[in-house]
Amino acid sequence: MEEIVYLNGAMIPRNEAKIPAMDYSFLFGYGLFETMRAYNGVVFRLDSHIARLAKSALGLGIAVDTNLLKNAVTDTIKMNELIDARVRLTVSVGEGSPVPDLRTCQRPIVLVVATKYCLYPQEIYERGFSMIISTIRRNSQSPVSGMKTTNYMESLLARQEAKNAGVDDALFLNEKGHIAENSASNIFLISENAIMTPRRESGILPGITRDVILEMTPQLSITIFEADIRPEEIVEAEEAFLTNSILEIMPITNLGGKAIGDGIPGPITRQLMTAYKKLVIRETRQ
Ligand SMILES: Cc1ncc(COP(=O)(O)O)c(C=O)c1O
Repeated sequence: MEEIVYLNGAMIPRNEAKIPAMDYSFLFGYGLFETMRAYNGVVFRLDSHIARLAKSALGLGIAVDTNLLKNAVTDTIKMNELIDARVRLTVSVGEGSPVPDLRTCQRPIVLVVATKYCLYPQEIYERGFSMIISTIRRNSQSPVSGMKTTNYMESLLARQEAKNAGVDDALFLNEKGHIAENSASNIFLISENAIMTPRRESGILPGITRDVILEMTPQLSITIFEADIRPEEIVEAEEAFLTNSILEIMPITNLGGKAIGDGIPGPITRQLMTAYKKLVIRETRQ
C-alpha cells in the first residue's frame, strides 16, 4: 500500500508531498517535531506530545491548533491502516522572505508521517546499550533548550560519534559538566534502591517517557528524584537506563568500556520495563 502522509490538511502519497523552497525549517531549522509510538492503533500519551509541542510553539511564535494536530496524527494512522506505528509530527514556521525575517512567516506547515513500527531486537534489551560521553555539550541556557526543534544536528553528530566509537549511543553533559541526556533519550541512574535523573533545568528535553517514569516509580514504592549528576556517578551506579517514546526503557550496561553495575540489565530496570509495558497496554486498549 502506498504510504499516505498528512500535509496542511490534505492526505497525499508521500512522494507527492512538497515543502516550499523558502521554508524556514528547511532553511534554518525553525520548526518543531514529535516522534510518537502507536500501539494497537492508538498513540501513547498523544495529549502530552501535543502539549509539549504547543508549549514550544508558543515560545517560538508558531501558531498551532492542538485539535487539528491531534486529528492529523490519528487520521494519518487510520489512513495507513497501521496498528503499531512510529509517527512523526513536524510543524514548521513556514515560508518566509529570502532575507531572514520571522515576521514574513505567515503560514505554518504541518506534516505527519506514520510508518509501521518494527520492534527493536529483544537481544539488545537483554544486553543493554553501551555508550560514550559525547564531546558536544548541551547548553542549558539556550532559548531552545527543552524544545524538540527540527535543528537536530547535535543529536545526529553525537550519534555519529557513538557509531564511530563502535557503541550504541552517546551522552551529553551540559555546559556545567553535569549529565544532561542521551542523543535522543533521557537517562536514569539507580543506586541503593533509589532512582535519579538529571533535573529539567540541566538542558534536557523533558521526555514524555521520563514523565511516565517519574509518575510510575513512586507507585512501585521506589524512590525517585531529580538532581545535578556528575559523570563519575554513572559507573558508580548499580544500574542505568534510558527512555524515549520509541525504545521505551533501554538498559545501559556500559560506559566507555566500563561495566555499569554487573554489566547486565539490573532488577529495578527490568521491573520498570515490565511495568511500563503493562501501563501502555492499559492506556492504548480500544
Ligand atoms: C534529545 C532527546 N531527549 C529526550 C528524548 C525522549 O523524549 P520522549 O520520551 O518524549 O520520546 C528525545 C526523544 O526523541 C530526544 O530527542
